[in-house]
Amino acid sequence: MTRVLGIETSCDETSAAVLEGAGDDVTQRSLVILSQDVHRVFGGVVPEIASRAHLTSIVAVVDQALHDAGVALPDVDLVAVTYAPGLVGALLVGVSYAKALAFAAGLPLVAVHHMEGHLFASALEAPDAVPPFTALLVSGGHTLLLDVSRWGEYRLLGSTRDDAAGEAFDKVAKLLGLPYPGGRYVEELAARGDPSRVRFSRPMLRRDQAPGDPDYYDVSFSGLKTAVLNAVRAGEPDARGGSDAEQHDARRADIARGFQDALVDTLVEKTYRAARAYGRERVVLGGGVACNRALARAMRARLADAGATVYTPSARLATDNAAMIARAALFHYERGERAGLELNAYAARPIPGLVEGSRV
Ligand code: KG4
Ligand code: ZN
Repeated sequence: MTRVLGIETSCDETSAAVLEGAGDDVTQRSLVILSQDVHRVFGGVVPEIASRAHLTSIVAVVDQALHDAGVALPDVDLVAVTYAPGLVGALLVGVSYAKALAFAAGLPLVAVHHMEGHLFASALEAPDAVPPFTALLVSGGHTLLLDVSRWGEYRLLGSTRDDAAGEAFDKVAKLLGLPYPGGRYVEELAARGDPSRVRFSRPMLRRDQAPGDPDYYDVSFSGLKTAVLNAVRAGEPDARGGSDAEQHDARRADIARGFQDALVDTLVEKTYRAARAYGRERVVLGGGVACNRALARAMRARLADAGATVYTPSARLATDNAAMIARAALFHYERGERAGLELNAYAARPIPGLVEGSRV
């Protein structure tokens, strides 16, 4: 049994977790996530403010995670930390602190790629969410479609050509006058929308696409965002009656619904293609957008046709957290991988373990 202390500071969540286990038999002992509401106030993530907030809270967050797990640092077998991708200044706080802890306590250090962490999140709750599977990672910064034959072996099939799925939600939220980060507000508004009123074309989704085409698995959301902007500006009069305010509100809900339906359809169809092409019976979702219930529902319905089960992490594990980082680190630790004290932080890095034939 190995006990892991994980640390995650790649964006605006300061998080630490303790878990223990071996192989795919892992128990989460604690998870602390401190979200920086400050970014809600500023309407986005301000890198300088994120770094400072991490610096203020990292010591207390790690102490709390150890305390909640009922252990002290010497009871831990390794320290794991996210080293890429993300905001460099934010990552550096976690990397520096993890290095200091590991050095002071004489513990090994394991470096984890943030997106690989997202791949492991579902496995913390669902013992069956293990390879082989098709993975769709949809966060604020990334949209990745992967075939996972085993842990550490990833075939990148497709990604976004422009905006990430979460970024598209956040930008559309802004256009509709909703708070940041806007994904869940768009989802709430869309639930009240009439699906037959506003229809946007499905980006990068055509029937004549074949597996060899570069756009067979890729997605693109910037055109969809522009279509939403035009729809918001058009402000068409509504024949449903009611006051101006009611009509305006109904129209916003219809636009949100049209946007979400187009984005969900695209992601579902591309994931379905991947699961079919590789004969996978499991599909694992990860990243903040995996919290979206319309996406999960549509994914389950469509993938049932391919005989595949869909796994979505709970909201706490779908969004950024240190438990998924500790879980991925355990895998690398068991393979004998260690990071040195020269470990650095990187804004962008490809996910490790990409197999030949991946689209990079
Ligand atoms: O994975 P995450 O916590 O952070 C990154 O690594 O980026 O993802 C955050 C993203 C934000 O863009 C947020 O708007 C989106 O996830 N999100 C959602 C929902 N909840 C969070 N998007 C759509 N529907 C939701 N319910
Ligand atoms: Zn993330």
